[in-house]
Amino acid sequence: MSGTFTKSMARNIFYGGAVFFFLLFVALTFDTTRALPKYDNRGAITPEVALGKRIWEENDCIGCHTLLGEGAYFAPELGNVYTRYGNSKEAIMAFIKSRPKEGIPGRRSMPQFNFSDEQLNALAEFLKYTSEIDTAGWPPNVQG
Ligand code: HEC
Repeated sequence: MSGTFTKSMARNIFYGGAVFFFLLFVALTFDTTRALPKYDNRGAITPEVALGKRIWEENDCIGCHTLLGEGAYFAPELGNVYTRYGNSKEAIMAFIKSRPKEGIPGRRSMPQFNFSDEQLNALAEFLKYTSEIDTAGWPPNVQG
């Protein structure tokens, strides 16, 4: 075998590589398009979930909490709080409802928002919804 690298060899590598990676791109695009519907739980967005998300945004919960990893690191992750509280909406509502007005001295505390029962229920529905999003097992433990 001669040790020269000819122009036609370079061209073949270029065209071969271009065709190979183009086909790989098409195959992966096809695969993604096929897999996506499995992760889609838009059907689970009820009017309560939507209201809960609006209350979540208007009260800047994300200013202290993370939701599925995004947000502030002052307070616990809430994407899986529904699971952490034993799949109980009531427990979440009771926690939010029972926060002391003046906070707890000497530790981080969650404010009292004075939500109505409808608002509490909507927030709990929203947090239940987020706990059911398929995150491929993230976060890895129920604590956070
Ligand atoms: C000023 C910061 C702050 C804001 C804003 C805030 N929280 Fe919290 N939250 C906390 C802290 C701190 C804790 C942990 C309190 C504790 O363990 O006593 C907490 C705990 C919680 C818990 C229980 C988590 C657990 O694992 O025990 C829930 C549920 C919760 N917050 C929901 C909310 C919702 C919903 C909002 C928006 C309406 C919100 N929080 C806004 C600071 C905040």
